[in-house]
Amino acid sequence: MRLFQRVGFLQYGAAVTLLLSLFLGYNLFYGGKDLFLPGSSTKGHHQIEAQCDVCHVKPFDTDDSMQQACLSCHSDGLEKARDTHPMKKFTDPRNADLLASLDATQCVTCHIEHSPEVTGQFGVTLPADFCYYCHQEIAEERPSHAGFEFNTCGNAGCHNFHDNKALYESFLAKHIEKPALLSKTRLRVPNAFAVWQKRNPDVKPLTADTHNGEAIPGIQPELIAAWHSSVHAQVGTNCLSCHAEDSMQTNSANPILRNGHDLSVESCSDCHTKQVESFKQGLHGMRLASDLPPLQVDQARLPMHDDAAHKTLTCSSCHDPHKPDLQFAATQACLGCHADEHSQNYEKSAHAALWRRELSGEIDAGAGVSCASCHMPRIKKGKLVSVEHNQSLTLEPNSKMIRPVCLECHGLEYSIAALSDRNLIRRNFSGAFDSTHPSFELVRERIAAKKAQKQRARATNSNQ
Ligand code: HEC
Ligand code: HEC
Ligand code: HEC
Ligand code: HEC
Ligand code: HEC
Ligand code: HEC
Ligand code: HEC
Ligand code: HEC
Ligand code: HEC
Ligand code: HEC
Repeated sequence: MRLFQRVGFLQYGAAVTLLLSLFLGYNLFYGGKDLFLPGSSTKGHHQIEAQCDVCHVKPFDTDDSMQQACLSCHSDGLEKARDTHPMKKFTDPRNADLLASLDATQCVTCHIEHSPEVTGQFGVTLPADFCYYCHQEIAEERPSHAGFEFNTCGNAGCHNFHDNKALYESFLAKHIEKPALLSKTRLRVPNAFAVWQKRNPDVKPLTADTHNGEAIPGIQPELIAAWHSSVHAQVGTNCLSCHAEDSMQTNSANPILRNGHDLSVESCSDCHTKQVESFKQGLHGMRLASDLPPLQVDQARLPMHDDAAHKTLTCSSCHDPHKPDLQFAATQACLGCHADEHSQNYEKSAHAALWRRELSGEIDAGAGVSCASCHMPRIKKGKLVSVEHNQSLTLEPNSKMIRPVCLECHGLEYSIAALSDRNLIRRNFSGAFDSTHPSFELVRERIAAKKAQKQRARATNSNQ
């Protein structure tokens, strides 16, 4: 009280303001920028929210530079998804009038940030019935749609705004009579190692005594043995392919890696460029792409195991660099961190039972379903089958998972129905569910109607 009287009210206010602005100013330039966030960020971006300038490229310029920022990270994905509503659809003068009510050329028309009170699923910040603006006539064009509400177009597993690759009518029609379970249920098997061996017939596997890591502090005989039995020793990748020779003495607990980088991700990138790139595009690796330290488990919003709180996400989270084991990486590694209901129910599922039988050699390689089978699909390009390391790519909307994953083993209607059932996802696909989907009823009706129309036409022709 005495201090207050001596300094006087005005000076006191000025002092507080000064301190506050020093504090905020310091944070603006040297860290803690999230103090300036107007609200929490979407679940897709919260890992990179501290790096304001990846989106706010130029201060006070909201539209174009921000639009370019969105595209710099998302245009590949939207292109791969064959976006149903790409910008060029709207620059077509015939559609210009549609933009009067909703400017669909700008990402931020539908996806603003830091506004949890208006943010719905998939980071959409418009009410779910916005399709109405441009598709008012749908009930006239398609009488089958007459009773539908506009907030159901995108919420019932029928249509997406961007990615309709597994939902186009012609695609549904083509797959309409497929059974729930196909006669052959198998995924392709990654073969990069075999392809590499074919291309490099002259490289001899390294023997245990040809390792070049004598100078690395802290070597244990088990470590040499692990490396010697690994794929890396067979392809001639020696200790110093990953570890930096010059800086090895300085840090025995974690010998600094090649190129002076201390992250396992960078030491792998010379030889595994594709995996590193795709890893950085998903939620697991996106912080690295924005020059932030790797994701630490306690920064997650999803439920995780307490004892994993201090683990970070790099290549070594799933692959022991001295003895990578792809089967361990495909489920056990994931379950060391993830503790949500869906993940924890996996072991009880029919898919997990198949996976255990694959591990024990009872059924063919590829016939089991691991976490990675669904979240890190195997991609075939020419003769090479490799693994997609962006685990966000097939996640949302989940119909993205249908073509690269489910359709290898299941029919389309069964897959769409399963993925539209939130409870079934929570149970990790165990047990009974309604395995039919309304989209297929509509397609069946249309096929029947077209058939009837043809028959009528044929009848009138033959009467003439
Ligand atoms: C992933 C992209 C992204 C990141 C990262 C990001 N923002 Fe934003 N921010 C947006 C978008 C999108 C909007 C909405 C723009 C609009 O409405 O036109 C926005 C709006 C804002 C607004 C205006 C809010 C309002 O209510 O009008 C402020 C202030 C802001 N951001 C601050 C920050 C700060 C500070 C950071 C870093 C700590 C940050 N943002 C990081 C995308 C981002
Ligand atoms: C630095 C790269 C980067 C930038 C810049 C960026 N994003 Fe993203 N965004 C991501 C990643 C990574 C994800 C999470 C994985 C995914 O869903 O593909 C994501 C997720 C999303 C999602 C899904 C959110 C959810 O909750 O499911 C939307 C929508 C989105 N971004 C829109 C935008 C828009 C609009 C902008 C521009 C304002 C933008 N992004 C800028 C990388 C970026
Ligand atoms: C007219 C509204 C609208 C506009 C404009 C829009 N989106 Fe979306 N976006 C959606 C809706 C709705 C979803 C929810 C999933 C769906 O229906 O495809 C979505 C989902 C997404 C997702 C997550 C799902 C996915 O398919 O990857 C990303 C990422 C995304 N949008 C990025 C963008 C970017 C980048 C732009 C600008 C080039 C953009 N969106 C423009 C409505 C819009
Ligand atoms: C800003 C206007 C606009 C909005 C909003 C809009 N659309 Fe569209 N949509 C179009 C245009 C334009 C076409 C192309 C029409 C054509 O080619 O005949 C189209 C086509 C489609 C198609 C057919 C795609 C194809 O190639 O077969 C589907 C499905 C669709 N929209 C679903 C939706 C859904 C679901 C929503 C809401 C989540 C939505 N649209 C919101 C303008 C819009
Ligand atoms: C494929 C790349 C790679 C090869 C080959 C490799 N290392 Fe490592 N090593 C790493 C990485 C990455 C780490 C850091 C581990 C982490 O991120 O947790 C590491 C850590 C270590 C450590 C610290 C203790 C530990 O286990 O984490 C020692 C000691 C070590 N390596 C010795 C060796 C020796 C000796 C060889 C050769 C016989 C070798 N390394 C071959 C990548 C490699
Ligand atoms: C000097 C090149 C080189 C470096 C550096 C390197 N690798 Fe490899 N690695 C290979 C080759 C070659 C193969 C066999 C072909 C393939 O799978 O791509 C391989 C295979 C693998 C496999 C598959 C194993 C299997 O059973 O098929 C994994 C996982 C792997 N590496 C992880 C890593 C990680 C993690 C790092 C960084 C810590 C790393 N590699 C660094 C060359 C390298
Ligand atoms: C070292 C811990 C760790 C390991 C190992 C791990 N994850 Fe994650 N995962 C995370 C964290 C942390 C997040 C971010 C969650 C968040 O931001 O709320 C995440 C996010 C995800 C997401 C959500 C992605 C999105 O775009 O919303 C999926 C799916 C996922 N992980 C699947 C897997 C699978 C499959 C494996 C094994 C092949 C795996 N994870 C291994 C820690 C881990
Ligand atoms: C979330 C866990 C996870 C992380 C993190 C991860 N991987 Fe993988 N990786 C896997 C799984 C699982 C497989 C095998 C999947 C299968 O067989 O279906 C695999 C396969 C591989 C393969 C062999 C198959 C192929 O893609 O050709 C290589 C090489 C590889 N990973 C390298 C890396 C590198 C380098 C990094 C760091 C950028 C990395 N991985 C990060 C889980 C992970
Ligand atoms: C048969 C395919 C399949 C298998 C097997 C599977 N998942 Fe999923 N996973 C999905 C689908 C589909 C979603 C839901 C996407 C959505 O939100 O619609 C999902 C969602 C997730 C999410 C995000 C959860 C959230 O609330 O956002 C995580 C994390 C995840 N899975 C991890 C795992 C892990 C770890 C395993 C293995 C223990 C696993 N999944 C096994 C298909 C699968
Ligand atoms: C490698 C093949 C394979 C893949 C990929 C696969 N499944 Fe399955 N799935 C099976 C087999 C085989 C069964 C039957 C197992 C049994 O009855 O023992 C099954 C069973 C199911 C069941 C019934 C489980 C029960 O308890 O009755 C559902 C639901 C299911 N799968 C959904 C999906 C979805 C959704 C996807 C894609 C995200 C998917 N599956 C991917 C092979 C696969």
